[in-house]
Amino acid sequence: MLSMRHVIGLSVGLFGMCELVYLFVQVNYQVYYKPQHHSVENENEQDLHEVLSLLPKDRLNIWMMPIRSRVKAQVKKSEILPPSVIDILVPNASYIWKEGQDNYVYRYYDPLKPKLFNLSETNNGLFTNFSNVLCFGHGTNATLSSKGKSCVCVSGWSGAECAIPHVLNKSRMPIGIDKMKIRKSPRRILHAINVNHEVDMSEVRFHELSDVVDVFIICESNYTAFGMPKNLTFLSLLQKGFLKEFQHKIAYIFLDHFPSGGKEDGWVADRYLRTFMGKKALTQIIGYRPDDLIVLADADEIPSSDVLWFLKMYDGYSEPIAFTLRWSYYGFFWKGPNDKHTQVTSAATIAYVKYVCDSDLIKLRRPPKQLNSDVYRSAFNRSVLTWTIGPPQGPFAGWHCSWCFPPQGIQTKLISAQNGDFPRWGNFKAKQSLDYIKGLIRDGKYFDGSHPFKAIVTLKSDAFYAPSYVLSNPKRFSYLLHNPYRST
Ligand SMILES: *[C@@H]1O[C@H](CO)[C@@H](O)[C@H](O)[C@H]1NC(C)=O
Ligand SMILES: *[C@@H]1O[C@H](CO)[C@@H](O)[C@H](O)[C@H]1NC(C)=O
Ligand SMILES: *[C@@H]1O[C@H](CO)[C@@H](O)[C@H](O)[C@H]1NC(C)=O
Ligand SMILES: *[C@@H]1O[C@H](CO)[C@@H](O)[C@H](O)[C@H]1NC(C)=O
Ligand SMILES: *[C@@H]1O[C@H](CO)[C@@H](O)[C@H](O)[C@H]1NC(C)=O
Ligand SMILES: *[C@@H]1O[C@H](CO)[C@@H](O)[C@H](O)[C@H]1NC(C)=O
Ligand SMILES: *[C@@H]1O[C@H](CO)[C@@H](O)[C@H](O)[C@H]1NC(C)=O
Ligand SMILES: *[C@@H]1O[C@H](CO)[C@@H](O)[C@H](O)[C@H]1NC(C)=O
Repeated sequence: MLSMRHVIGLSVGLFGMCELVYLFVQVNYQVYYKPQHHSVENENEQDLHEVLSLLPKDRLNIWMMPIRSRVKAQVKKSEILPPSVIDILVPNASYIWKEGQDNYVYRYYDPLKPKLFNLSETNNGLFTNFSNVLCFGHGTNATLSSKGKSCVCVSGWSGAECAIPHVLNKSRMPIGIDKMKIRKSPRRILHAINVNHEVDMSEVRFHELSDVVDVFIICESNYTAFGMPKNLTFLSLLQKGFLKEFQHKIAYIFLDHFPSGGKEDGWVADRYLRTFMGKKALTQIIGYRPDDLIVLADADEIPSSDVLWFLKMYDGYSEPIAFTLRWSYYGFFWKGPNDKHTQVTSAATIAYVKYVCDSDLIKLRRPPKQLNSDVYRSAFNRSVLTWTIGPPQGPFAGWHCSWCFPPQGIQTKLISAQNGDFPRWGNFKAKQSLDYIKGLIRDGKYFDGSHPFKAIVTLKSDAFYAPSYVLSNPKRFSYLLHNPYRST
């Protein structure tokens, strides 16, 4: 019997000459079924009726819609079935839907009909057995390890299994690394982000983290943080194929209202985003376990994949976990004031979020002392103490790139910002001018007229200049790697 998880597409000629209607059903596999006899109208209809007659009528959703705009134009409105919901289950799905077809998970996604995300088991094959030792793939030099009786690590990794990233050497840990053990099966990582228009940073995030993250929880609202109506930019990009190759890992959360009181006090709106995202995500995702890990980030923060690998594979550390992030402004070429870094408590197990944070993600940011962790501590026998990964001077556990947009994006961010964090620069018309914004980027100036940022002289001198996907795509991200308004 098939369960409710995946998508089936049936193509059938329902409308005489004008052809293809797709049915999308949530069932066991993503399936793409093409009837044998395109041209023969009656047989196609028969196919469909046969399939429909086999199906129990009480289970699942189907959407019917024309596949191409060309088709849409040919079919009279009155002939098209509305994209109505029919409950059926397809019994035998024999054609597996494949990437590369011009079909992807979010193509026809309707945010008003949220999809359940069934979290599956994660990453088999993270370790390789070299003549009787198990070595962590990402941390191991396979050529050298296959010869000896121990794992030989690549630079940046250590430990008997080459599974400890070097940033941990320099981190003060409430529990020693010798007390931590590699798990039998890795935990799943749920990475949660509220988005507005951070398109490029999102592209970077998915490329950096998609191997280690099991589900990206992406929350988008049709209101700005200021409370103004906005389009679902992110969703429409997904529908057009943005992040196509990662879409099967996205759980999209639609925030369709603006919290009362959010206009007067912007922090109410800001906090509400995360509270809503967390609560909703735990209803839209199924199959998670208490020891899976939630990693919360702002759209301009990207945790390092090395650190996430460690957290995924190991047991025995204390939580919550804070990340020390390399802080840059306008691009990776301006460093924060006085080499400032960001430290933000971002990760904890689902059990911690449920029992210590009352399932409210905003509480993850608070020191555990302010929360009630006693029940959790004793029920789960867990150590509750904030562990900060990465010292202030580096190595770092990720990147925080503030205002890292082209000037147009900075302008959008000014206008969208919540009514808090005063002065609210978006309230000043002059600060919205693109020429003014370009000047800030050029000179490393802030909106208050100060010059707090330091230029990073050479990219090569700095091991944490930018995430590796940015470094390996220098043309695409040139505006983030080099100051676009300076010649040197
Ligand atoms: C979720 O997936 C698991 C394993 O892949 C499966 O056993 C379970 O039935 C699925 N649940 C639903 C509701 O589809
Ligand atoms: C599905 O149908 C095909 C051909 O009709 C058959 O060979 C196969 O065994 C069926 N699979 C299942 C799971 O029923
Ligand atoms: C590694 O493989 C060898 C032989 O293939 C096997 O005997 C051994 O148990 C494996 N070691 C581990 C740790 O899985
Ligand atoms: C592994 O070690 C060999 C020999 O030292 C070296 O040539 C190769 O570049 C190393 N590979 C990696 C991925 O570090
Ligand atoms: C980190 O610690 C391990 C083991 O204690 C050591 O082998 C490795 O060289 C250290 N790395 C750095 C960068 O200090
Ligand atoms: C946001 O979406 C909800 C649900 O579709 C709708 O009721 C509401 O009117 C929308 N708000 C705006 C500003 O479009
Ligand atoms: C939303 O998109 C539509 C169509 O692209 C556009 O006309 C409208 O101005 C946009 N609304 C906002 C608030 O940006
Ligand atoms: C709780 O955890 C500690 C350290 O991991 C362990 O020594 C102790 O036996 C555990 N207690 C219980 C009741 O499981």
